[in-house]
Order: sequence, then C-alpha cells, then structure tokens
Amino acid sequence: MTAQSKPITTVLLMFKFGDILFRPTEKQDLKLVHKWENNAELMMYSRSKPLNFVSMAQLERQFEERLKEEKNLYFMIEFFDKKEPIGSARLEQRDWGNIKTGHIGTYIAKKELWGKGLGRQITVALLEMTFMQLNAERCDAGSVEYNQRAHKTLIFSGFQQSGIYRKVHFVNGRKWDHFYFDLLREEYLDLRKELLERVLGDKLDEYLETIQIQV
Ligand SMILES: CC(C)(COP(=O)(O)OP(=O)(O)OC[C@H]1O[C@@H](n2cnc3c(N)ncnc32)[C@H](O)[C@@H]1OP(=O)(O)O)[C@@H](O)C(=O)NCCC(=O)NCCS
Repeated sequence: MTAQSKPITTVLLMFKFGDILFRPTEKQDLKLVHKWENNAELMMYSRSKPLNFVSMAQLERQFEERLKEEKNLYFMIEFFDKKEPIGSARLEQRDWGNIKTGHIGTYIAKKELWGKGLGRQITVALLEMTFMQLNAERCDAGSVEYNQRAHKTLIFSGFQQSGIYRKVHFVNGRKWDHFYFDLLREEYLDLRKELLERVLGDKLDEYLETIQIQV
C-alpha cells in the first residue's frame, strides 16, 4: 500500500458521499433513534404506522440482533462537517430467486430537511453501495401509496415502479396500497454518471477519488 492509498474498509464502514456520511449505528445513538422512531409524522411516512411506539428496551434488543447480521448494513447518516445525525438508512442483502438484491430504505428525521434534495443524495449513495461495493444485480425499495416524496426520490434515482401490494396498510382511517420499485444493475450503470453528477455536483471528483484503489 502506498502512503497515499486509502484502506477499503474506510469506504465501506464510513461511507462519505458529498456532504453526508454513512456510519454504523452505535449503542449511544439509540437515545436519538428512540426519539425519532416515536415521532408520529415521521413514522406515518417511514413505517406507515403513526403509532410506532417503540421502547428503549425494544430498540436495544433490535440493536443486539442486528449485530449478528453480517449481510445487512444499518447506518446513521450525518452531515459530515457538523457531525450532526440527520437520519438513518438500511441496506439489506436478499437472495430472492438466486439473484442478489439490495433492499434499501431511509428516513430523514428532521422535517425541516425534507424536500431539499437530501433524499436523492442518500438514495444514490445506497445505490453506489449496492452495485459498486456489494455487487448486487438488483436494488429494490417500497413505500406506502401516499408517500409521494419517497416515490419521486426513487424515480429520480432511476427506479421503476414494478408492482403494487393492494390495501396492505391501514393508516388514519383508511386502507392504502404499497408501491414497489426496482432498478437493475445494467440500468444503474447506464444512469450512473448522470446521477452522480446531479447529486454530487462539485463533490463528484472527491467521491470518485475515495473509491479508487491505489496500488
Ligand atoms: C422520503 C425522503 C427520504 C425523501 O427525501 P427528501 O430529501 O425529502 O426528498 P428530495 O428533496 O430528494 O425530493 C424528492 C422528490 O420529492 C418531491 N417533493 C418534495 N416535497 C414534496 C411533497 N410535499 N409532496 C410531493 N412531492 C414532494 C421533490 O420535488 C422531488 O421530486 P422531483 O425529483 O420530481 O423533483 C424524506 O422526505 C423522508 O425521510 N421522509 C420521511 C420518511 C420517509 O418517508 N422515508 C421513506 C420511507 S420508504
């Protein structure tokens, strides 16, 4: 390894993408996650369950379980400069039908940050991990019918709506469908350059440098 080269683990565990950093969720983050995941409006969009009451003890148990899962990645997302956590994301590896799939999901916990383009940046970062690091053939994601922000974010990032589970959610007095989206590896590779340019702007070269392996 030359003096300038960067160890590959830095890329995977601490994934910097533009202004944001994906890092592992630590036990001390659970206090914040507890607050976030008991926020009715956030959970209405993220989990389609406004009454997502979750105790610290439940979160701690889930945290311990997740430590055993090597295939799935659970992240805290923060602004790199401020070291300020803003949300969470997950990338689960699934082998449905023998084809490796990355299943992604995210929430931005602070409502004042919604609608400013961060979701697109997070989604493209998760696609980079899915296709450029985990070598998956597909990526998929899903969201409740009324979550237009999430659907538009996925469409922007190259996903196509691939199916609907009809009337599987009951929220605020009525039933709602669940929309499924997917993106194939070859489709992502066709779009990759344009997407990276659009979400990273002048931070593109910095990102491309961090994923170079120097020998
Ligand atoms: C869903 C989420 C990650 C999207 O991130 P975001 O930063 O808010 O979204 P972006 O700013 O990247 O914009 C995405 C799209 O939504 C559109 N949008 C923004 N506000 C909107 C609104 N109130 N209604 C409909 N569309 C809206 C934007 O115009 C953009 O669409 P475009 O690409 O066609 O222009 C974020 O809003 C969030 O965390 N929401 C709460 C939790 C959640 O829904 N998680 C996803 C569960 S699957």
